Amino acid sequence: MKIGAPKETFEGENRVAMTPESALQLQKLGHECVIETKAGERAGFSDKAYKDAGVEVVKTAAALWKAADVVAKVREPDANEMKRLRDGQTLISFFNPGANEKKMKSAADKGATVIAMEMVPRISRAQKMDALSSMANIAGYRAVIEAGNNFGRFFTGQVTAAGKVPPAKVLVIGAGVAGLAAIGTSTSLGAITYAFDVRPEVAEQIESMGAEFVFLEFEESAQDSAATGGYAAPSSPEFREKQLEKFREMAPEMDIVICTALIPNREAPELWTEDMVKAMKPGSVIVDLAAEKGGNCKLTVKDEKIVTDNDVTIIGYTDFPSRMATQSSTLYSNNIRHMMADLTPEKDGKIVHDMEDDVIRGATVTHAKEVTFPPPPPKVAAIATVPKEKPKELTPEEKKAQEVAAFKAQTKQQFTLLGIGGVLILLAGLYTPASFMQHFIVFVLAVFVGFQVIWGVAHSLHTPLMAVTNAISSIIILGALIQIGSSSAIITILSMLAVALAAVNIFGGFLVTRRMLAMFQKS
Ligand code: NAI
Repeated sequence: MKIGAPKETFEGENRVAMTPESALQLQKLGHECVIETKAGERAGFSDKAYKDAGVEVVKTAAALWKAADVVAKVREPDANEMKRLRDGQTLISFFNPGANEKKMKSAADKGATVIAMEMVPRISRAQKMDALSSMANIAGYRAVIEAGNNFGRFFTGQVTAAGKVPPAKVLVIGAGVAGLAAIGTSTSLGAITYAFDVRPEVAEQIESMGAEFVFLEFEESAQDSAATGGYAAPSSPEFREKQLEKFREMAPEMDIVICTALIPNREAPELWTEDMVKAMKPGSVIVDLAAEKGGNCKLTVKDEKIVTDNDVTIIGYTDFPSRMATQSSTLYSNNIRHMMADLTPEKDGKIVHDMEDDVIRGATVTHAKEVTFPPPPPKVAAIATVPKEKPKELTPEEKKAQEVAAFKAQTKQQFTLLGIGGVLILLAGLYTPASFMQHFIVFVLAVFVGFQVIWGVAHSLHTPLMAVTNAISSIIILGALIQIGSSSAIITILSMLAVALAAVNIFGGFLVTRRMLAMFQKS
């Protein structure tokens, strides 16, 4: 099959759906590649680079659409391109199917197959094709850079000879893909970063990236995001009020606010209100990534940068990925080539459009002369969750009875063990010299106390504990070395065993510690 990428016609769009690198990969799947002249120019890919990668370069869009069996694009097709789409052709592109019923109908009537990249389901297997995520990742990063460009101070705090600079405070609202990318960029630039999301399960991710999760003291039956395809469910009005109250409290403190909160197929919720903007310090910056869907801040003007009366800059650009066209084209073209790999299972240049495949079915909006949008929910949950059976609630009396029974059983076990131990020591005392008994009792006590101490240590502390046991092993080795030259064969054998076991402990400890350290080292 011939895969082609035309030059994007949307005003200001710099991205391209095929790069020389992705073309090489597509050829490995048995396909040929064709591109419209200058299609990659604004993303930094020259016609020569494409030719060198074995791509045919054609002069016009008309020639491209005629030559290609599969057309890969970034933006949804315009009216002209829709006219060019023909029977048997496949179009892979962002398509906005929810708002494009007419275009879908026209493509289906023509017998063209349309794969809408925004419809790739958010399941683990499809991550490599998830263009929404790869573009949101870039947008999150760029939002922070753009904020920095409009902010008159450092992100990181500094103490210089000329004076002390406090670190900037950044609040990221919504910790999805774009939000997490923004958090990562902001913390790495040294800002004190706070983040909020309605999904409590992201708190750990936020904190592991060095930001602080903004907790709300509010009891709401937590919705499992797996049930909503990996996305949040709308929150209750009471929750929203509590959320706004918290933001209102934070507004005078924040220097930069990055808004990314969105629930798919809905208008963006208003979370940063006019009074919060008014409460911010002059020079503060708001970057509203949700501008396309009305914005999380209602003062946001789509595609524009405005400065309010109190000198707060609000950025509502909707083309952040296009502003980093080389990076975004590279990632997007990779998403497309992974989609093509799924469509070409035998790597023989032949497309098999398997509507039983969750990912292909989910993304296909027209096929075999039919509109196939919306797709059925994917068979695999967004995050694999096994429904847990709720344990039966016990009444206070039942709980008390259970505790008493457990205590009795434990006490009985302890007394039995003590009894057996006492009898054994008595027997040993009858047949061994007094000096042996003295050491033996110390040994038994050491084992007992050591066991009790180590048993209570939390799993997360086992690594530092290992360092302590390494120190103990060293003492054992020293003791064993002193005894190893003894005239008694039993003592020599026991000493050798002690050295061997302690050595295993020490070297094993070193190996595990090395592996753990390597996990935290930057490559
Ligand atoms: P996502 O769905 O991964 O993340 C959105 C997050 O917002 C979710 O974690 C969700 O739980 C959270 N959220 C929803 N309602 C909330 C509320 N009331 N309060 C707090 N958090 C809430 O979406 P993704 O991919 O991260 O995209 C984020 C936004 O960025 C979207 O609006 C998207 O359209 C936009 N975007 C903008 C671009 C631009 O150039 N301006 C480019 C790419 C994406």
